[in-house]
Amino acid sequence: MSDKIVLLGSGELGKELVIALKRLGQFVIACDSYAGAPAMQVADEFEVIDMLDGDALDKVVAKHQPKLIVPEIESIRTERFYSYEKQGYTVVPSAKAANFTMNRKLIRDLAAKDLGVRTAPYQYATSLEEFKSAVAKIGMPCVAKPLMSSSGKGQSVIKTEADIEKSWQYALDGSRGDLMEVIVEGFIDFHTEITLLTVTQNNGPTLFCAPIGHRQDRGDYMESWQPCAIRSKDLKEAQDMCAKVTEALTGAGIWGVEFFIANDGVYFSELSPRPHDTGMVTLAGTQNLSEFELHARTILGLPIPEITQERAGVSAVILAEAESSETPVFTGISEAIKDPKTDIRIFGKPTTRLYRRMGVTLAYDEINTDMDALRKKATDCASKVSVK
Ligand SMILES: Nc1ncnc2c1ncn2[C@@H]1O[C@H](COP(=O)(O)OP(=O)(O)OP(=O)(O)O)[C@@H](O)[C@H]1O
Ligand SMILES: [Mg+2]
Repeated sequence: MSDKIVLLGSGELGKELVIALKRLGQFVIACDSYAGAPAMQVADEFEVIDMLDGDALDKVVAKHQPKLIVPEIESIRTERFYSYEKQGYTVVPSAKAANFTMNRKLIRDLAAKDLGVRTAPYQYATSLEEFKSAVAKIGMPCVAKPLMSSSGKGQSVIKTEADIEKSWQYALDGSRGDLMEVIVEGFIDFHTEITLLTVTQNNGPTLFCAPIGHRQDRGDYMESWQPCAIRSKDLKEAQDMCAKVTEALTGAGIWGVEFFIANDGVYFSELSPRPHDTGMVTLAGTQNLSEFELHARTILGLPIPEITQERAGVSAVILAEAESSETPVFTGISEAIKDPKTDIRIFGKPTTRLYRRMGVTLAYDEINTDMDALRKKATDCASKVSVK
């Protein structure tokens, strides 16, 4: 096996991870479906492949014989990961974690049925008839999602009878791959939504970062802030759920575990076995080690003596306003970062789509700062940037 790391997925999270890995002297091959992807811009080498094509994946693994295979996205032919493990490769955090989390059914049944973790009530459907009866069982309002999708694709809230058929079709159209199955979940009337970044280590205890609060629109990430104040009882419960689920999925790495916090307690929603988009807030220096540095250290088996909260921070997204195949032009950057304690990260994506995430603005201050004011500061900064 070579000393190389193969990164599967080369978006903004991959880019920051590659920077962290390069700082630790690593050699990284960044893969994605198009050339010039953000992580490729900072990696040693790149490969353009369809990561849902198992044979293409096999070829890249055989060619580079990496010491680590590091997924950065969900949409990969993860079934192949099991055979890479059998061949002696290390998949981060594990083949099981990557495979289970790309399918809502696998991870939901593991959490709710096998581990007894509290989730929204749910039902599955493979036809309109089943879908109607699932909605009837769960009750309205409820949320429909394709089993395989991310960033809110194909997801909708059903409030009345009239929404049911539309919602079914929308879920099918937004489904990734060949799996035509939908989950219907009870709508959780949460007051706060958090990500708990969890670090599992091969030779050390499981560590938790301070909760990250976040806001989603169209099922997609808009802004996140850390720390997010929640009741210590809720935090403890969420940490216990993180420990259970990550232990069952196995492996070392950082995990973004998503929870809804309602008046009646904590609900596990889903998790990603890799750096999480809401964790970009750690780029504001909120912690001694960012989520990318934590991931890099733990997958390399390096020590993490402690995780400390250094300041309060917010990250707010900069979205493209239209589709274009031309190189995006950013305006308003100097206006956006003219105030102290603000910053920006431009991802360097070569083209745009409506609502494509192109960058984030960051704002930070002392730990006990007024978080609402800091959130406003970060989102105001983001609103000054436009992408044409
Ligand atoms: N059962 C629910 N009740 C209330 N809100 C929900 C529910 N399920 C999802 N949502 C809202 O939609 C958002 C996206 O849902 P979810 O995380 O399941 O989808 P996703 O497509 O996997 O998103 P991503 O991959 O970007 O994390 C959630 O963060 C939450 O704001
Ligand atoms: Mg989510």
